Order: sequence, then structure tokens, then C-alpha cells
Amino acid sequence: MATLEGKVVKPLPKTGISVEAIKGHLDKIEMRDPYAHFARAFRGPKDVQEVAKLAFERFISDNGFFSMYLPYMQSIEQEVIAMGVSLLHPEKNSTGNFTSGGTESNFSGLHAAKEWAKVHKPKAKKPNIVAPFTIHPSFQKSAQYLDIELITTDLDENGRGVAKNIAAAINDDTIMIAASAPTWHFGRIDPIPEIAAVAKDAGLWMHVDACVGGYVSPFLEKLGEKLTPWDFCVPGVMSISADLHKYGYCLKPASTIYWRDAELQKYHYVAIEDHFLGTYKLAGFSGSRSAGPIFAAWAVMSYLGEEGYLRLTRRLLELKKKITAGVNAIEGLRMWDVDVMPLHFQSHKAPTAAVYQCLLDKGWIMLGLVNPEAITIPIDPGFSDEAADLFLKDLRDATEKILAGGEAKKGDIRYS
Ligand SMILES: Cc1ncc(COP(=O)(O)O)c(C=O)c1O
Repeated sequence: MATLEGKVVKPLPKTGISVEAIKGHLDKIEMRDPYAHFARAFRGPKDVQEVAKLAFERFISDNGFFSMYLPYMQSIEQEVIAMGVSLLHPEKNSTGNFTSGGTESNFSGLHAAKEWAKVHKPKAKKPNIVAPFTIHPSFQKSAQYLDIELITTDLDENGRGVAKNIAAAINDDTIMIAASAPTWHFGRIDPIPEIAAVAKDAGLWMHVDACVGGYVSPFLEKLGEKLTPWDFCVPGVMSISADLHKYGYCLKPASTIYWRDAELQKYHYVAIEDHFLGTYKLAGFSGSRSAGPIFAAWAVMSYLGEEGYLRLTRRLLELKKKITAGVNAIEGLRMWDVDVMPLHFQSHKAPTAAVYQCLLDKGWIMLGLVNPEAITIPIDPGFSDEAADLFLKDLRDATEKILAGGEAKKGDIRYS
């Protein structure tokens, strides 16, 4: 018997099992909605999910490996990029690439900046990037892969990055400044105009991680929300990551990396000359990949259009209001103010980790922050009013039970 992280798992069966047995097993282990809703974030309503599934299933076996070569696939991918970049106050030559998620998009930004720096910052021998402390861990991970140092800087009292702290941290080896719009940690947008000005003055690559906000902030703005400018309207911003599989409501894995100018995109590509195979040049980091997510993204974006995204953004705001009011009405709980998403709350009477554990015990699969302890609610328009009512009822029961009983088991809050 092989073991997987201590768990006993069975070897490959000698003979296969029936389709019914497969279905039966999957039925048994599958997470149930609405309890699994937050673990499945981010989804649009049923009709959007159906459109995505239809396109995904149809192209599931097509290989995205060929997206730069086969015209039917290339044009769909380019349409996704054109639709996405149109939301970001693009320049004439702004463009982008489809990726497998925020991590790959951020990796791609870092990689392109490193290649660009070989030409534009030749004195940077041990490249580093500077970013506010709340930069997503996918940067640390990518920096590690690419042998780049990540220097993080202190935040202001509202959890946003501070341009002058970034300016003070850059040195001769700095190649890039990165900031978030918004951060996952606090849902806050860093002061991108001030930070990008620092990058521009120092001649550095500026990347904005808009993995969370990329496909919702443009619609919040159209609905009248006043957000800090964060996209290509800000001088100096050179690349932006934006996740289709978050507030684009597309099927995972789907994200985008956008370049202010096609000239910058050239630093993204890696072309390998293989003796036997010839030129090996693909759209991004992956080799073979399902084309399903690309077609599903095209289908969802085309189906929704601006009008559809605005409708879903209105629903998101309605849900945010309902959940914020519901959480704040429970003894000791306080929802944090956010610029965009996701929502987080803390408990000031019952320990937050105990509330978290009680929610887990009731079946809700939750994410959170460990420092300070907080519980994350990554809402999306696929979360119904009934589900929200059930969640709020369970949260109230959990909190009241802990407050009535004194001691309670504290959960191991986790983000991943
Ligand atoms: C701000 C931010 N950047 C990057 C990522 C990484 O995205 P992914 O999990 O799609 O790789 C996340 C994920 O939550 C995020 O919130």
C-alpha cells in the first residue's frame, strides 16, 4: 500500500470498476453546496455556469498547446484577450496572454521583467523586486523559482502599501515594483498612482496584481464606486494580472496577464530551438493543456457582455450589503471595510479561531487569515439569498454557542 502524506491509498485496481460504481463513489465524496460554496468560488449564477460548462466540455480534449498555431483556437484566445484588455484603459498596442491562474500570471510578469531588465537594467546582477508586505505569496513563490529576491515594505494603518517606503527600499539591483488592486489579505487597493510614479522615476517595471479585482473593479467603477486608479490609465503600469476564474466567473484554470505594449510581451516568450523538433515556442509556461478553459472563458465573456457583468456586479453589491449587515448584527463580529473583495470578518468576543472551527463543524469550508485571525467570505453572484441566510444563521448559532459555553475548540485557520 502506498501512502500519500500519511494516508493509506489503494494501488491501481487489477480490473476496472463500473461507471455506476464510479458515480456512486463520487457522489459519496463530493462536497455539498451551499457548504462548499466558498471553496468553489468564484461562480456566476446557474445560467453562466451552464454556458461555461457547455464550451468547456466541447473543447476539453483539444490541446491548448496549439493556441499560437491553430487558427480556430488562436482567434478564440485572442478574442478573450481583446475583450479583457478593453476593460483596462488600454493603449493602441496593449495586449496579453491567457494563463492557468493568478500564480502563473504573476510568474509571467516577474519573468518578463527579469528578461527586460537584462536589456534595460544591465547593472542589476542580483535582481530584486520591491512590493508592499501584502503582496500575494505567489510572488514569493515565483521569485523563488526565478532566483529573484522579494523585498517587502511596511503598510499604512489601513493595510495599504506606501509609496515612500517602496522608494526607500529600491536599490541598484531592483528591477520591478509590484502592488495589488486589491490585496487578498485586506481587499484594499494599494495607492497605484503614487507607487507607479516611483517606478517610472526609477525606470523600473511596474506590475499590478489585479487577480482579484481585474474583472470586477471596471464594473464597480461603471456603477459609480470611486476606486483608486489601478490599470493602464496610470502612467508607468507595464503589466497587470487579472484572474478570469475569480470575478470573470470563468472555469478554472483561467487567468490573464496584460502588457501595456506588445513590445513588453516579447520578453514573455521563450523560444527553444530543439535539434529534432525545431522551434518550441508556446503561449505561456504550460506545455499541453486543455483548451476547455480558453473556450469556456470566451463563452462566458461573450454571453455576459458588459451588460451581464454589470448585472452580476449589482448582485455582488447587494449580497455584500446583506452579508455585511448580517455578520455585524451578530454579537462581537465585525466585518472589515474593503475597497473591492473578498470580505473578511473578525470576532472580538468569541475567539475567531473557535468561530472558524464551529463553521467547519457545521460543514462550511472556510478560508481565513492567521495574522490577525480573520475569516474570509469570498462571495460571488452564484451565492443565493437562501444560502446566505443559512450561512448567517449557522454563524450566529456558532458564535452564540461559544459565548454561552466558554471554552471552545479553536480551528487551524488556513488560506491554502
Ligand atoms: C491577489 C492575488 N494574487 C494572486 C493570486 C493567485 O491566484 P491563483 O490561486 O489563481 O494562482 C490570488 C489568489 O487568491 C490573489 O488573491
